[in-house]
Amino acid sequence: MQIETITTNPYNDQNPGTSGLRKKVKVFQQPGYLENFVQSIFDSLEDFSGKTLVLGGDGRYFNRVAIQIIIKIAAANGFGELIIGEGGLLSTPAASNIIRKYNAFGGLILSASHNPGGPDEDFGIKYNVSNGGPAPEKYTGAFFQRSQTISSYKTAKIEDVDLDRIGSQQIGELKITIIDPVTDYAELMQSIFDFNLLKQSISSGYITLLFDAMSAITGPYAKRILVDMLGAAPSSVINAEPLENFGGHHPDPNLAHAHELAERMFSADAPTFGAASDGDGDRNMITGSNIFVTPSDSLAIMAANARLIPAYVKGLSGVARSMPTSQAVDRVAAKYNIPCYETPTGWKFFGNLLDAGKITLCGEESFGTGSDHVREKDGLWAVLFWLNLIAVKRQSVADIVHEHWQKFGRDIYCRHDYEAVETPIANSIVEHLRNQLPTLPGQSFGEYIVKYADEFSYEDPIDGSISNNQGMRIGFENGSRIVFRLSGTGTVGATLRIYIERFEADATRHDQDSQEALAELIILAEQLCEIKKRTGRTEPNVIT
Ligand code: G1P
Ligand code: ZN
Repeated sequence: MQIETITTNPYNDQNPGTSGLRKKVKVFQQPGYLENFVQSIFDSLEDFSGKTLVLGGDGRYFNRVAIQIIIKIAAANGFGELIIGEGGLLSTPAASNIIRKYNAFGGLILSASHNPGGPDEDFGIKYNVSNGGPAPEKYTGAFFQRSQTISSYKTAKIEDVDLDRIGSQQIGELKITIIDPVTDYAELMQSIFDFNLLKQSISSGYITLLFDAMSAITGPYAKRILVDMLGAAPSSVINAEPLENFGGHHPDPNLAHAHELAERMFSADAPTFGAASDGDGDRNMITGSNIFVTPSDSLAIMAANARLIPAYVKGLSGVARSMPTSQAVDRVAAKYNIPCYETPTGWKFFGNLLDAGKITLCGEESFGTGSDHVREKDGLWAVLFWLNLIAVKRQSVADIVHEHWQKFGRDIYCRHDYEAVETPIANSIVEHLRNQLPTLPGQSFGEYIVKYADEFSYEDPIDGSISNNQGMRIGFENGSRIVFRLSGTGTVGATLRIYIERFEADATRHDQDSQEALAELIILAEQLCEIKKRTGRTEPNVIT
C-alpha cells in the first residue's frame, strides 16, 4: 500500500463540543479540514497499530465522501481492520454496540445528530473509545490541541471502497469488512426485551404503534425490528427512508419537529403508542394516545418499572441524570434506595459510571435515555422499553404516567431554547448571570426563595477528573429550579438553554399545562437573564 504524506495548515476551530466536532458541511469541505481533524485524532491515540476501527454515520449529506477519506487516512495510519456499516450507515447506538461486541479499538461516527443535513446544513464527526462511548474530555482536549499544530496528514493511495457490498476484503495490510448495520443491534435488543410478549401484544391488536424515523438513520432499524421481527404493520413506520437532507426537516424528535407523528398521536384515532428518533438514532420521543411523556419523566418511569423488563429483573445498581434533567428520577432512586448521580450535560459523563457498574440506567432531558447495554443513548431501545412496559402492565401510556405521578409527585418541566444568539450578547448574558450568583441565596421572588445559586462543577467519582462551568443552577426552597447553560452543539452563534422545573405533589393538580404551571418561574428566568431584553426577541425558538 502506497502511503502519501500531505502537507497541511491547521484550522483554529476544531474544538469538539458536547458531542464531537459539528460544523456546516461547507466548513468540512475546506481543503484538509476533515483530514486534519481525523489525523489529529489518530495522532492523539496510542498503540492502535493492527487494531480495529468501526466506521459509520447517519447517512447525511457528505457521509459517503467523508467515509472514503477516512478509510484512506485510517489505512495509512496502520489500523488492521475497518468495520463499516453497509452504505456507510450505522446508528450511534449500533456503532457503540459494534465497538463493544467486536472488541474494536474505537470508532468514528459521522453525524450532527438532530441538526439538519444537506449541502448548506450540518455535518459532524465524533470519536468513541473502546468501551463504545464518546471520548471523554481528556481525549477531545488532546484532539483539539493537536489540531492547532498539525502540519501534515497521511493517506493511502487506494481505490474507493464499495460501501454497498457486504463482506470482507484485504487491501495490503488492511482488512475492510462491510457489515449489515442492523443485525447485531437487533440481536442485542432481542437479548434485552421480551420479544415473544411484544409479538403477541402487537398481533392481538392490544398495542398499535406509530414510529417516525424522520427520514433519518432509524428507518432500517425500525423496519427490521418493529415490522419484520415484531409483526407491526408496515405503515406503522413512517419517514423510514434515510435521506441525505432528512427531507428538509430537523431530524429532532420533539412535538415541534415530529409534527406528522404529533398530529396523529393527538387525534381521535391515535394509536396506543407513538415514538420518534433523531438523525443518528440515539434520541427518543415517547408519546401515547393524547399524551406526551417528557424525557425526564420517561427516565423516572423506566427506573421505577425496570424490574418488569427481562434484562433488568434483578434491579438497578444505580441511576444517573444530567444536571438540567428534572429531579423526577431522584425521587425514584430515593424510594428504592439506589444511588443517583448528577452529571454534566453530555453522554460522555455517564461512561465511567456505566463501566464501573455504578449505574444501570441514565438519561438526559434532551430526549436521551439509555442503559449499560451500550455506551450511548439509544432511541429504539427506549421505544422497546416502553412497548415492553405497556405489554406487561397492560396499561395505556397515559395511565402509566398518571400512576407514576400519583406515587412520586410530578416534576413539571420545560426547556426554552434561544438559538443563534450573537455570541457577544450570549457572553454578556452569561456574565450578567454569573455576577448575580453570589447575591441570590436568601432572596425571595414571590413564593420562590433562593436556596442556592451556583455554577455546576462535577468531579467524576471514578477517575477524579473535574469539569467546571457546566451551567448555572438556581435552586429554590420549595425544590423548584432554573438552570441556564449555553449549548455545546450549535453551529451558528450561541444557543441559550433555560431549563425550568417545579414539583407538584398534589395529584388534583397534575394535569396542568406545563407552560401555565411554570409561568411565574418563566418570568423570573427572564428577569434574571434578560435574554428577551438584550436580544429583542419575544419568545424562544423551541420549547420542549
Ligand atoms: C445537546 C443536549 C445534550 C446532549 C447533546 C448531544 O447538547 O442538550 O443533553 O447530550 O445535545 O445529543 P447541547 O447543545 O445542550 O450542548
Ligand atoms: Zn443524536
